[in-house]
Amino acid sequence: MNHFLLDGTEVPFTEGDTLMDAAQRAGHAIAHLCWDATLGQSGACRLCSVRIDGRLAAACTTPAQAGLAVENRTPELDARRLRLTQMLFVEGNHFCPGCEKSGDCLLQATAYALGMTGMHYDMQAPVRPVDASHPDIWLDLNRCILCKLCVRASNESDGKGVFAIGGHGIGTHLLVNSPTGLLGDSRLAAEDHAAHICPVGAILPKRRGFAVPIGERHFDTTAPPEASHGPD
Ligand code: SF4
Ligand code: FES
Repeated sequence: MNHFLLDGTEVPFTEGDTLMDAAQRAGHAIAHLCWDATLGQSGACRLCSVRIDGRLAAACTTPAQAGLAVENRTPELDARRLRLTQMLFVEGNHFCPGCEKSGDCLLQATAYALGMTGMHYDMQAPVRPVDASHPDIWLDLNRCILCKLCVRASNESDGKGVFAIGGHGIGTHLLVNSPTGLLGDSRLAAEDHAAHICPVGAILPKRRGFAVPIGERHFDTTAPPEASHGPD
């Protein structure tokens, strides 16, 4: 089997793997917010940026090759990840203590793992809607980090195209494909992959809330946070 080096450790891979695929399968954590093993490549968040021969590359879109020497957990790369994470926090409205996803949220867990203790940037406090029109699913755009996982899951897994990204720059936002633009008028079903893949608390099942107490949630009890998604 072929190998590449991740921070000096041999990682086996098979033909067609990206660096991320192979590293995650072998239990090596590379930070990510838009990668999922069940979906195709995206490269939306850049949290997974590593260095290969001095150049930055997204681990989730770079094919694994024998003999590559990949730098991942260096102070410089983690500092970049921290700033990206802080940008995501200030671009939306993320109030972890009041969020049902707290403890299961990959953004929150990534912030903890990177040692984030403050926002660094000014809060932008955008005005964004909450869509409670669906009988089984909440959509809170205040928490959306535009990772596109729901867009890709709805297209690739569910074959429905319920979600899309619209606008540009600071106005980029998640769109719901329905006659009214509301989730309740879309084809999203509670069991769809797209309804369960959001890494943050933007798409949440209704009537579950705090059924699992804070302190007993995925990232409260398992590590490392960069290595896996929490439950939906
Ligand atoms: Fe990503 Fe969730 Fe926003 Fe969809 S709603 S783009 S899964 S953060
Ligand atoms: Fe690679 Fe988001 S995980 S760009």
